[in-house]
Amino acid sequence: MSIFWTLWITVITLIVIIGCAVLLKLTNKNDTGVKEGEPMPHSFDGIQELNNPLPKWWVGLFWFSITIALIYSFAFPSYTANWNGLLNWTSADKNIKSQAESDQLAETSNSQYQREMNAAEAKYGEIFKQLAYQPSGEYKDIDVIAKDPEAVKVGQRLFLQNCAQCHGSDARGSKGFPNLADNDWLYGGEPLAIKETIMKGRVGAMPAWKDILGEQGVTEVTSYVLQLSGRRVNALEAQAGEERFVMCAACHGADGKGLTEFGAPNLTDKIWLYGGSRKAVEDTINNGRNGVMPAWSDVLGEDKIQLISAYVYSLSQEK
Ligand code: HEC
Ligand code: HEC
Repeated sequence: MSIFWTLWITVITLIVIIGCAVLLKLTNKNDTGVKEGEPMPHSFDGIQELNNPLPKWWVGLFWFSITIALIYSFAFPSYTANWNGLLNWTSADKNIKSQAESDQLAETSNSQYQREMNAAEAKYGEIFKQLAYQPSGEYKDIDVIAKDPEAVKVGQRLFLQNCAQCHGSDARGSKGFPNLADNDWLYGGEPLAIKETIMKGRVGAMPAWKDILGEQGVTEVTSYVLQLSGRRVNALEAQAGEERFVMCAACHGADGKGLTEFGAPNLTDKIWLYGGSRKAVEDTINNGRNGVMPAWSDVLGEDKIQLISAYVYSLSQEK
C-alpha cells in the first residue's frame, strides 16, 4: 500500500480511537450541579430523571476496549506500507506479484501465510511422496495409484480444494466444464493424457463459422451435427450440411467422432459440452468456443498432480 493510504488509514484510526476516549471522558463528568443519585431539575409529564452516573463496570469495559484497540493497532498494523508492527507480523508478503516470487520467498518469508504453508508442506509433503513414489524413487504408474484407496482419497481431497469450483464436487462438470467421470474425453483418458492436461492446461479452439457459412450454412450444418447423434432433422438440410462438414472434419474427424489431438469433441454421442439443444449447437457453430483449462504444474507441483490424476482416472474405471 502507498504511503498516502497508510497515513490516511492511520490518521482515521487514531482519530476514531481518541475520539471515543474523549467522548467517554466528557459524558462521565458530573457538571450538572446535581449530586449523584439526586433528581435533575427537569421533569417530563411528571417523570423525573435521576443524575445517575454510567455504571462503573461499563466505563471500565470501555476503557479496556480503547486500550486494546491502541495496542492492537501498533502490534498488527497490517495496513501500513513498510512497517510490520511491534510483533513483526504479516498475514502475507505484501508486494508479491507472481507465483515465482512467492516460491522464491518460500523459505525465508516470515508471513503467517508462508509459515502455515511451509508447515503443511513439511507435514503432508512426505505423505504425498509415500503415496506417489515407488521405493526405487520413480513415480508409481497412475493406474497403479488409482487402485490404492488411500491415495485416491487424498487425490479426491486435492481435487475438491482445487478443481471442484469448475468441474463440480462430484467431477461431473456443467455447461462448458467437462464431466470427468464419464469416460468421454476431449483430450484423451489415458493416465498420461490426463496428467498432461492437468500439468500444462488446455485451450479449446473451436472457430466461429458465422461469417464463413452464413445463416443458411450454419442451419444446414447444425442439422447434420444433430443427425450424427441420432436426432430427427430435416433430411434435405442435413444432406446439405454433410457436404459442408468437410470443413469440420480436419478437427472433428470425417466421421464426426472427434480427435483428441485438437480437443475436438465427439459429435456422434449424446454428450454435449455446451448443450445439445438446436439453439446451443447453432450458437457454438456461429460464435465458436474457447474453453480454458488452467495449467497446474506451478501451482500444485508434480507430486500432487500425480495423485489428482489417479483420482480423475479412477472415476471412469469403476465397473
Ligand atoms: C477455471 C476452471 C477450471 C479449473 C479450476 C479446473 N479446470 Fe479442468 N477444465 C476446465 C475447462 C473449461 C476444461 C475444458 C477445456 C476445453 O474446453 O478445451 C477442462 C478440462 C479438463 C480435463 C480434460 C477433460 C477431457 O475431456 O479431456 C481434465 C482431465 C481436467 N480439466 C482436470 C482438472 C483438474 C484435475 C483440475 C484441478 C487441479 C481442474 N481441471 C481445474 C476448467 C477448469
Ligand atoms: C480447428 C479445429 C476445429 C474445426 C475446424 C471445427 N471445430 Fe468444432 N470444436 C473444436 C474444438 C476444439 C471444440 C471444443 C471447444 C472447447 O472445448 O471449448 C469444438 C466444439 C464443437 C461443438 C460443441 C460440442 C459440444 O459437445 O458441445 C460443436 C457442435 C462443433 N464443434 C461443431 C463443429 C462444426 C459443425 C464445424 C464445422 C463447421 C467445426 N466444429 C469445426 C474444434 C474445431
